[in-house]
Amino acid sequence: MDTIQAIKERRSINFFDPERTLDQGALKELLSIANLAPSSFDLQPWKVVVVTDPERKKTLRACAMNQQKVEEASAVLIMVADPGGVEENMDRVLESWQALGYMRPEMRGAYADMIRSLYGGRDSMTRKLFAAKNTSLFAMTVMIAAKGMGLESHPMDGIDEACIKKEFNIPEDKLIPMIIAVGTLKPDGSLLPRAFRRELDEFVHFQAYGK
Ligand SMILES: Cc1cc2nc3c(=O)[nH]c(=O)nc-3n(C[C@H](O)[C@H](O)[C@H](O)COP(=O)(O)O)c2cc1C
Repeated sequence: MDTIQAIKERRSINFFDPERTLDQGALKELLSIANLAPSSFDLQPWKVVVVTDPERKKTLRACAMNQQKVEEASAVLIMVADPGGVEENMDRVLESWQALGYMRPEMRGAYADMIRSLYGGRDSMTRKLFAAKNTSLFAMTVMIAAKGMGLESHPMDGIDEACIKKEFNIPEDKLIPMIIAVGTLKPDGSLLPRAFRRELDEFVHFQAYGK
């Protein structure tokens, strides 16, 4: 399936076939495609908890407003945004940039300073936004890639973040922008037509906001 078709045909599916499973190979393929998503300074501040075990899905459902699709989907991916992605990955990114000729060795310190000043202190709001925006781009790429692989998905932020952190051992400093159910549409499941989308002229402005 080409990209345009995958974007046009992706829908948030409510009824997953509970009989279908996804093996680790397929899940890793999906996640490695999505791992090519862009990120600020290539810092990739995301982590994923993959939930396929039926009992763990039940627990996750209880932390997600009891949404049935959490239990019925083959896998549910907890998207974890890590404000510590700067410290974790900066040296490896700069090492790779230097080795590949993206940057001259003498510029390394200047790049490190730029990253630190752009994304703020470890506990700042800037840092949380940095983590959440990049993880959301990763999440969107997961959904498009799933469609391309013949799978369906459903993003959810109807979740109790504290409950998920507690049940899935996720450290307090992380954020969970969403979870994503992945699987196959139930054989007797059908989709309503795609709902309301705004016309472009309501939200697209050329040259300056309001024009
Ligand atoms: C970040 C995010 C969170 C969402 N959370 C939920 C949710 O908790 N439950 C739900 O049923 N749908 C949720 N949705 C799905 C939206 O309702 C859906 O994307 C929207 O209605 C458009 O439908 P479509 O995805 O089929 O185009 C969420 C979507 C996004 C992007």
